[in-house]
Amino acid sequence: MKELAGKTAFVTGAASGIGLGIATALAQAGVKVMLCDIEEKALSTALEQLRLTNVDVEGVKADVSLKVELRSAAEATIARYGKVHILVNNAGVGGGGPYGTWTEAAWDWTLGVNLMAVIWGIEMFGPLIEQHGDGGHIVSTASIAGLISSGSIPYNVSKYGVVALSEGLRGELAPRGIGVSVLCPGFIRTQILNSARNIPKRFEGAVGRMPTSGPLAERVKQVRDRVSQGIDPTYVGELVREGIENDWPYIFTDAEFEPYIEARFAAIKKGFDQIRGRRPKH
Ligand SMILES: NC(=O)c1ccc[n+]([C@@H]2O[C@H](COP(=O)([O-])OP(=O)(O)OC[C@H]3O[C@@H](n4cnc5c(N)ncnc54)[C@H](O)[C@@H]3O)[C@@H](O)[C@H]2O)c1
Repeated sequence: MKELAGKTAFVTGAASGIGLGIATALAQAGVKVMLCDIEEKALSTALEQLRLTNVDVEGVKADVSLKVELRSAAEATIARYGKVHILVNNAGVGGGGPYGTWTEAAWDWTLGVNLMAVIWGIEMFGPLIEQHGDGGHIVSTASIAGLISSGSIPYNVSKYGVVALSEGLRGELAPRGIGVSVLCPGFIRTQILNSARNIPKRFEGAVGRMPTSGPLAERVKQVRDRVSQGIDPTYVGELVREGIENDWPYIFTDAEFEPYIEARFAAIKKGFDQIRGRRPKH
């Protein structure tokens, strides 16, 4: 989508971090933005701040892991702006944990917010984007953890799912005039490690008590340090705007993890090498 000014975007998880960075960059490019978030107070603060810059933004509270709330948010967007061109499925939580710490509530919360809400977002907003004929774009926030898996496996499973969805939909939606990008950030300076602040009641127990010493505690501390010194989410918002304008399939924030992804590709290639030349039995 070369011409963003005057278009409308719906951004989830827009009250904080990367979502707020994306909403800001789009609004500054002249896009009308509906900010959606579960956290009402943070949402109104974000709107207040953004409106100081004379942009056209509105807010809607929704728990995107509830289909009925996401649908109302879509209706509110159409009621306010008439059309929607850009969907940004960004809301996400740092749920789960390594093997040995899993709970059903943690899997449900992590997959519910990080993956199912993205699926429903596409299901609901896809037809709304298609119907006006102006074309549009869908960006979904996965992670580098959607391409390499270590650490919190439920989180990684949810993010691999977002990558698979985006890669598959790109071919399917291009003929319908909708571009598809997947955002795969590295470490970004946000509230992601305080995701427990927004756990809906029905996922109670999704965050267990973390050990205060030992290798797991050490790993958590390292991640916390990296996030607190991470990349500015406003910069990520600018990259996403550029990715939409130029229809980038993958939007990366930095090249730190490229060697790990190359190592994964090499391991996959080795798997093929191991059976190369054999004749499969049918
Ligand atoms: N920060 C990083 O280092 C990093 C790296 C890779 C990917 N990501 C992904 O970026 C996305 C944004 O996270 P962030 O880092 O900006 O964290 P953040 O916590 O600052 O922002 C996430 C936003 O999502 C909202 N949210 C949470 N649950 C919700 C729900 N059920 N319904 C609606 N909104 C909900 C939160 O209220 C919050 O405003 C997530 O998908 C996350 O997995 C973050």
